[in-house]
Amino acid sequence: MKKVGIIGASGYTGHELVKILKKHSNVELVVLNSKSYEGKKVKELYFDFNGEEIYTNYSIDEINKMKLDCMFLCVPHTKAFELLPQLKSKKIVDLSADYRFKKIQKYEEVYEVKHLDEKNNKKAVYGLPELFKEKIKKAKIVGNPGCYATICTLTSYPIQKFAKYIVFDCKSGYSGAGKSSTYAKDHDTIKENIVAYKLTNHRHKYEIEQFIKTKLSFTPHVIDAFQGMMCTTHVTLKEKTNKDEIVKAFKDFYNDEPFIKIMEDNIPDLHDIQKNNYCCIGGFEIDENNQLVVVSVIDNLLKGASGQAVQNMNLMLGFDENMGL
Ligand SMILES: NC(=O)c1ccc[n+]([C@@H]2O[C@H](COP(=O)([O-])OP(=O)(O)OC[C@H]3O[C@@H](n4cnc5c(N)ncnc54)[C@H](OP(=O)(O)O)[C@@H]3O)[C@@H](O)[C@H]2O)c1
Repeated sequence: MKKVGIIGASGYTGHELVKILKKHSNVELVVLNSKSYEGKKVKELYFDFNGEEIYTNYSIDEINKMKLDCMFLCVPHTKAFELLPQLKSKKIVDLSADYRFKKIQKYEEVYEVKHLDEKNNKKAVYGLPELFKEKIKKAKIVGNPGCYATICTLTSYPIQKFAKYIVFDCKSGYSGAGKSSTYAKDHDTIKENIVAYKLTNHRHKYEIEQFIKTKLSFTPHVIDAFQGMMCTTHVTLKEKTNKDEIVKAFKDFYNDEPFIKIMEDNIPDLHDIQKNNYCCIGGFEIDENNQLVVVSVIDNLLKGASGQAVQNMNLMLGFDENMGL
């Protein structure tokens, strides 16, 4: 059994990890750190949770003495690069944005803060297994991708060569903003509503641009669903292309990927992915103006966060990629 832990276990992504890791047959969850809920049972905070797990609040020294095989950081950005350099766990998966940017200057520009851990940032691998599996297997530190960056990159990477311009129109369940967001605290603000925000300069746009070199636009919306996200991708094609060529490009690229489903004859919706780790990609219609529309869905808390984090841990610790998922 490998020993693993979570810092930020009481938040939305932390809680998803608690649920997955508790059932994972090759790991033992020994740290469930929460500053706010230390000593309380998880089920006192999440009423539908069945288990006797209790939130811990171990110091970094205590955690280091436990010699953990993998530590997950589920904390806000800037908190991760304060914690990570102190941790001696063999592997670390950070769910925040702190280790997602290869170029530290770009991170500083996008997040408007100074990055305090350039040394470890150099070693970190971007945790999108469908693109970087071999690097992840050898990595000590993984920067787990953002949810929007995951769905947009997976939806466009295989067809970049066909694209002149890409528009990502994304909708996310309100858990995407964490448990202290206005929507989570006061549901009436999102009830029966859709809210567009950051029309042209959401931070995930710059994360996507690390991998998608075609010119792109990205606009996010929050919807009245707790979890799940949809990306309607409009691609202006360079030249006349048919549906079969597009579908083939996706199928060839994601050939053996356990968590990608190409839905050739369907348009996926949130019910296809809520509470599972799949990314479903479908639609594939091309109109008379040579505009391709692809529709994709993921669960922001799973393939967009904690499910992907466990996928990465599995690869880093040499387990089957889909173990526990
Ligand atoms: N929600 C999503 O869909 C999603 C998707 C991809 C990535 N992410 C990223 O994952 C991270 C966690 O997101 P979340 O949605 O789980 O947020 P959340 O629900 O707000 O939870 C964040 C947790 O971090 C802990 N925390 C806050 N400040 C801290 C500090 N200074 N030091 C240590 N712990 C601290 C809090 O726990 P205690 O006060 O109990 O310690 C809280 O439970 C964020 O960086 C977020 O951007 C989220």
